[in-house]
Amino acid sequence: MKDMVEGYTTPDGRQIGGVLMELKNITLRFGGVVAIKDISFDIREGEIRAIIGPNGAGKSSMLNVISGFYVPTEGEVWFHGQKRPAMRPYQVARLGIARTFQNIALFDGMSVLDNIMTGRLTLMKSGLLSQAMWWGSAAAEENEHREKVEKIIDFLEIQNIRKTPVGRLPYGLKKRVELARALAAEPKILLLDEPMAGMNVEEKEDMCRFILDVNDEFGTTTVLIEHDMGVVMDLSDRVVVMDYGRKIGDGPPDEVRNNQDVIDAYLGVAHD
Ligand SMILES: Nc1ncnc2c1ncn2[C@@H]1O[C@H](COP(=O)(O)OP(=O)(O)OP(=O)(O)O)[C@@H](O)[C@H]1O
Ligand SMILES: [Mg+2]
Repeated sequence: MKDMVEGYTTPDGRQIGGVLMELKNITLRFGGVVAIKDISFDIREGEIRAIIGPNGAGKSSMLNVISGFYVPTEGEVWFHGQKRPAMRPYQVARLGIARTFQNIALFDGMSVLDNIMTGRLTLMKSGLLSQAMWWGSAAAEENEHREKVEKIIDFLEIQNIRKTPVGRLPYGLKKRVELARALAAEPKILLLDEPMAGMNVEEKEDMCRFILDVNDEFGTTTVLIEHDMGVVMDLSDRVVVMDYGRKIGDGPPDEVRNNQDVIDAYLGVAHD
């Protein structure tokens, strides 16, 4: 039985801890549009938590609430056992939550290495000016950042493209660079918005492996939105199912797969 306080060990030997984030009765409105309607669920430490549902269900909006980018109209977000206040953008950046986007958001003209370095900006103590001038402690700090980034580059097997401008890369590799940039922030929670959309089978397999390896190696709690049910089944520990802004299912993948509401709303129809 899964221990709801202390956590548990997954069948493949990964350690899941206690509750890291709790979303309580979250409602999010954009004018007249209700993107999220009274949804509650939790995210455990070390967990791979999937969010699935049809287009427009509110999945990306939910990721934006988790990241702190959107303040919910109603409801509370609890993080590390404390109610999280509404925050300004610079405070959000320091929460230890990093993400990738549904549409790739990288700097095309910059190299892979420089793009990944931007992921460390919120961790940098010395200002950008002194970094650029290579002064004293800034130089030492720069070296430390480079070491961390090189470790991620090795880990994601992108050494051979580190100097390549991102604009020249094929789609699958761009997605991997985006993952690298998110990891560079050393996040406590990693949010992935459709990390495998538009990928071929081989690219998907690679991405699955990296997501699992990242979880294993860095102990990163991961929340991912994904349409490919095979991927969701393989990767996730628990799944939240959304439909028209509501939660219609929540549990381990095989339980959710057999939930009639979920089958009717989502699984009965084909998805890309
Ligand atoms: N910034 C916004 N302003 C107004 N409406 C928005 C905004 N963001 C999302 N919405 C609306 O909220 C609803 C949920 O959108 P959201 O992007 O969260 O869905 P999704 O589940 O991620 O969909 P998809 O699978 O297409 O990515 C939609 O009706 C959308 O049009
Ligand atoms: Mg979306």
